[in-house]
Amino acid sequence: MSSMLHTVSLSWVGASLLAATLSLFLFLRWTAAKKPGQLPTPPRLPIIGNLHLLGSLAHHSLARLSEKYGPVMLLHFGRVPTVVVSSVAGAQEALKTRDLAFSGRPLSSLSDRLFYGSQDLAFAQYGGKWRQMRRVCVLHLLSPKQVRSFRSVREEEVARLVDCIRAASGAAVNMSAMIIALTCDILCKVAFGSKYTEEGGSQIHSLMSELSAVMGMFPLRDHIPWLGWIDWLNGMDGRVKKIAMTIDSFIEKVLEQHTSQRGGNNNDKEDSSMDDLVDILISLDDKEDLDVMSLGRDSIKAIILDMFAAGTETTYVAMEWAMAELMKHPAEMKRAQEEVRRVVGPRGNLGEEAAKEMQYLKAVIKETLRLHPPFPILFPRQTVEDTQLLGYHVPQGTTLFINAWALGRDVGTWEKPEEFRPERFIDDVVDFKGQDFQLIPFGAGRRGCPGIDFAVATMELALASLLYHFDWELPEGMRVEEMDMSESSGITVRKKSSLIIVGKTVSQ
Ligand code: HEM
Repeated sequence: MSSMLHTVSLSWVGASLLAATLSLFLFLRWTAAKKPGQLPTPPRLPIIGNLHLLGSLAHHSLARLSEKYGPVMLLHFGRVPTVVVSSVAGAQEALKTRDLAFSGRPLSSLSDRLFYGSQDLAFAQYGGKWRQMRRVCVLHLLSPKQVRSFRSVREEEVARLVDCIRAASGAAVNMSAMIIALTCDILCKVAFGSKYTEEGGSQIHSLMSELSAVMGMFPLRDHIPWLGWIDWLNGMDGRVKKIAMTIDSFIEKVLEQHTSQRGGNNNDKEDSSMDDLVDILISLDDKEDLDVMSLGRDSIKAIILDMFAAGTETTYVAMEWAMAELMKHPAEMKRAQEEVRRVVGPRGNLGEEAAKEMQYLKAVIKETLRLHPPFPILFPRQTVEDTQLLGYHVPQGTTLFINAWALGRDVGTWEKPEEFRPERFIDDVVDFKGQDFQLIPFGAGRRGCPGIDFAVATMELALASLLYHFDWELPEGMRVEEMDMSESSGITVRKKSSLIIVGKTVSQ
């Protein structure tokens, strides 16, 4: 979600490199650790610092750099000092031992403009207001009870997905597009109580895809403030303004509709299990819940937007990679299908309770998140005070990148890390909940992801259903070795090409 992770556009890098090359021998500085206690750092160029080292897939470039400079290194993206961590010990120290010191988020002009002055949970600065929002989210919106209460929404939408694939009658389907629609529809119903199809369900889909595209852009002003005018010149500012206004008017409309429905029906629902997230926030406000009352309308809107922005693309990316890896590994696909069909067998129907019992499927999800964490460089943090990391001094205001992708492929931790082998997690206690630092796709510590239960419930049910109802094949003439598993650039790293596969209905 943060612009800081976005791939620098080729044209911009080209221009920057040209300017930088002219003055290279005048300014190039070798700043590798010269003094004890100083973080190792690659040489940087004038103005852009180390931006040119990011490449189109930053998690790969940073992993390669760390082989040379070590598990913790200092880079400068424009004027922004950034510590990059690529080891389990470094991640554990930053997110556990020194979690408080690393609990800030770097300033972002994009989140300022899209998330109501960064008054949401994900981009908020660490402090009282963030704590308040976090309590609201963890206790009321994403609590295990609340996540369970949305079960019927997940089951309904997954059943709709299954029907769509059946309707294709064995023709190839665009699985990527279908999974995007699934995650977006689930979040939409959970957050707003409706898919707003009367407005054109696709309106929300396109809003969210534009939001995701815009969040992946790279505003120069955040890194090289005096070049900020380029953001205006290249149309970025206009695009951001437009989507911010469209999203705001949509959320305003939803809030008004919910408020008037409650007023009109005097609808103080006792059965909160049917409430959507907007209902919950409004009812907490009505009940004079101190945390919600003092949040203010903009923060309430920003929290709703957060659920979408943080919850849809991440879950979609994980499921797309899981299906792609299973297609690429027929033996693992077969084993997962056998498990799903065996567990469902006697019950006859596949619900969330059954999905919870599928140990191999859970291992498939872990293995997918190990190889393809949706945020390969997590979500940037920032130091709120001077601190230490692996013996190095890290000043207040330093950005922190944790390369979760590199941790998941560390040869010192994992046997044959490049291979997709879900069975490594069978009888293994390693989990992704933030205690085992070799596997932290959801981050860890006080700013760790509060949506894990929500995401896992959706992924388990959707994947189990896809494996239960269909036998999967590649389109006619395509061989497993020809599958394109390359990654797209962006803040969340999805499959570069859509996953097109054929689902043959299995009669149960
Ligand atoms: C596979 C799915 C998901 C992945 C991989 C994921 C990953 C992450 C990561 C890496 C962070 C930053 C953690 C840190 O700084 O330590 C994060 C934060 C966050 N996530 Fe998720 N997430 C997922 C699903 C969700 C869902 C479904 C929701 C809500 C519906 C959600 C809401 C949030 C929020 C609100 C934050 C910000 C927390 C804060 O700053 O206090 N996420 N997520």
